[in-house]
Amino acid sequence: MELRFSTESAIKYEGDAVIVGLLKKAPLEGIVAEIDKALEGTIQRLVEAGEIRGKESEITVVHTGGKLASPRVAVLGLGDSGRDPVFAVRKAAAVAARVLRDRGCRRVGLGLHLDPVPASRPEQVMKAIVEGTYTGLYRGGECKGEQEFPHEFEELSVLGVDGDDGDLLVEAARTAAIAGEATNYARRLVNLPPNEVTPSRLAQEAEEMAANSDLEVEILDPERIDELKMGAFSAVARGSDEPACLILLRHQQSRNGPRVAFVGKGLTFDSGGISIKPPDKMELMKQDMAGGAAVLGALRAVSKMKLGLDLIGIIPASENLPSSKAYRPGDVLTAMNGKTIEVISTDAEGRLLLADALAYAVNLGATHLIDVATLTGACIIALGHVAAGVMGNDTALVEAVLDAGECAGERMWRLPLFPEYRPQLDSRIADIKNVGGRPAGTITAGWFLREFVGDTAWAHIDIAGTAWNEKDRPDQIEGATGAATRTLISLAERLAGGLA
Ligand code: BES
Ligand code: ZN
Ligand code: ZN
Repeated sequence: MELRFSTESAIKYEGDAVIVGLLKKAPLEGIVAEIDKALEGTIQRLVEAGEIRGKESEITVVHTGGKLASPRVAVLGLGDSGRDPVFAVRKAAAVAARVLRDRGCRRVGLGLHLDPVPASRPEQVMKAIVEGTYTGLYRGGECKGEQEFPHEFEELSVLGVDGDDGDLLVEAARTAAIAGEATNYARRLVNLPPNEVTPSRLAQEAEEMAANSDLEVEILDPERIDELKMGAFSAVARGSDEPACLILLRHQQSRNGPRVAFVGKGLTFDSGGISIKPPDKMELMKQDMAGGAAVLGALRAVSKMKLGLDLIGIIPASENLPSSKAYRPGDVLTAMNGKTIEVISTDAEGRLLLADALAYAVNLGATHLIDVATLTGACIIALGHVAAGVMGNDTALVEAVLDAGECAGERMWRLPLFPEYRPQLDSRIADIKNVGGRPAGTITAGWFLREFVGDTAWAHIDIAGTAWNEKDRPDQIEGATGAATRTLISLAERLAGGLA
């Protein structure tokens, strides 16, 4: 999809449709009023008839009959000035893009009228519209044959860009297009079946990404993982014949700033291992590499953004399967940092992979660590499918993650790592056990990870509830969501700008 910018007014745009936004109960203003005039009051009449109300994600497609250069105007409801106007705009843009695409529109213009969206800056609104357009257009069906319409528009034109904030808007739209594309890239990887997306396939994705950018890639194979004494990661990988790997992607554009590491859980299929999961919905456990996909997506985006940041993406990739070689409940493992771990459940495997990957990141000299993982079912109990859980040992970094999430339109909520939770992980035989019982399962998982980061500033994002959308919605199809991809991108921007 080509992103274009033009000073041209929406009235003169010669495409298949122009999109304009309207808040609930707001008068027709700016470009919407101009278009209404050109249409001799059609929009106003629809408003008076109660057919256009401006409610969130309402979309009304009006044929212009030659009165505008484009044959259609889509009037998009943006809702009222509720508490989260930018969230509403992102969603509405996704709905509009889908409706127009499915009616065969290929060249679409965005008629700008960003000022009336309350409590937000025009560039935030611009970003939300472009990101929403990209994510709305994603249609999945990775393994289907030919589809009736293409996924994307041929062209998305941002119209009426001029004035003082013109440059800011162009910049916001460009970054948003990169972030939207990266989100869809991550979704595709998560949606692809686990027989295709194996650890080796994730490595191949990283290699291809590096070949087409200034990223450097390194893939550590099972022998190297053993040599590095990653006993926790190795144990998880042992049950499967698919070779595990540790993927490293480097974006080195600064040598004296912070060294940031994004670590993503890359479990390409989680059966639970010997502590096998119940069969119901087990197929959804292909989503267990969603953290890894978010890290790949974020590095893909960052490499296009020239942020001047020293960033490493680290993805421990493996399957978790039962076999005669599989690790068992009761086993004691030694992680790379020398800590011993008593295995209570082989289904709590994500924290084992991450323990070694985080310790490795510390050895690589990371100053800021952020991990993303579909880590605990308990996170779904705590926050549902609405928000990701965020924890960490450094308030400034945790707050930066929460801020980045807000800016990316991803709900995130902090959970406490109070010291009172830590004894739940005490083991009689080893330094720590991998399960702390049912109470506060997301927090004890966070505490487990914390034991492997030393004093390095670290934040953890549990996306178990947000990586997968269980129900088709007008703005988002069922399946992978690309959770945390945009948050990581937004966080990289913040870290490049310097944390307080
Ligand atoms: N991958 C799962 C967590 C998960 C659950 C992700 C649902 C996405 C949706 C993780 O490896 C796991 O199995 N966790 C166990 C931990 C338990 C054994 C302490 C869980 O949450 O049940
Ligand atoms: Zn598991
Ligand atoms: Zn898992």
